[in-house]
Amino acid sequence: MAVVTILNEDKTLKTHDEIVSGLASHGIDYERWQPAHPVADDAPAEEILQAYSREIEELKTRGGYVTADVIDVNPATPGLGEMLAKFNREHWHDEDEVRFIIAGHGLFHIHSTAGAVLAIEVEAGDLIRVPRGTLHWFNLCSDRRIRAIRLFQDKAGWTPQYTDSRVDEGFLPVCFSATHLSASGTT
Ligand SMILES: [Fe+2]
Repeated sequence: MAVVTILNEDKTLKTHDEIVSGLASHGIDYERWQPAHPVADDAPAEEILQAYSREIEELKTRGGYVTADVIDVNPATPGLGEMLAKFNREHWHDEDEVRFIIAGHGLFHIHSTAGAVLAIEVEAGDLIRVPRGTLHWFNLCSDRRIRAIRLFQDKAGWTPQYTDSRVDEGFLPVCFSATHLSASGTT
């Protein structure tokens, strides 16, 4: 399950219900998904999409998403540092950022319209939906690994628009995964 901290209140949301309602109050959707049948986290993308097809179709209907794919990032991914550097500064997109985590970890920071900054560390089984226009940034954790289903309304809309606020520089990207406790890097 995700680890959610409201940084400016120094408050951690611990239970599933706290996380769902706490994130919803800042406009972020959070769900836990179970596959229709057991599927390995390194299974081919088609098998992953098939195992979660019911949830994907429901979300497509709700959010107007037209395509789904699987992104796979690990320490050996060519250009990983450059890729991550595009997303670790405060930005927004003209379409929703929707991720269902299959393997690895990721750390989203959300800068809400109310001024709060939330850290959301996601792991396998977590679905997060960051609505279009929401200010946010993203880091990997120390495993430098994430495999995730992505849903798109229009891939053309999913490019980062930077605020250049440097708000992100005030928050160390710390992950609290059960297996490790470390500040994540981006290069
Ligand atoms: Fe983003």
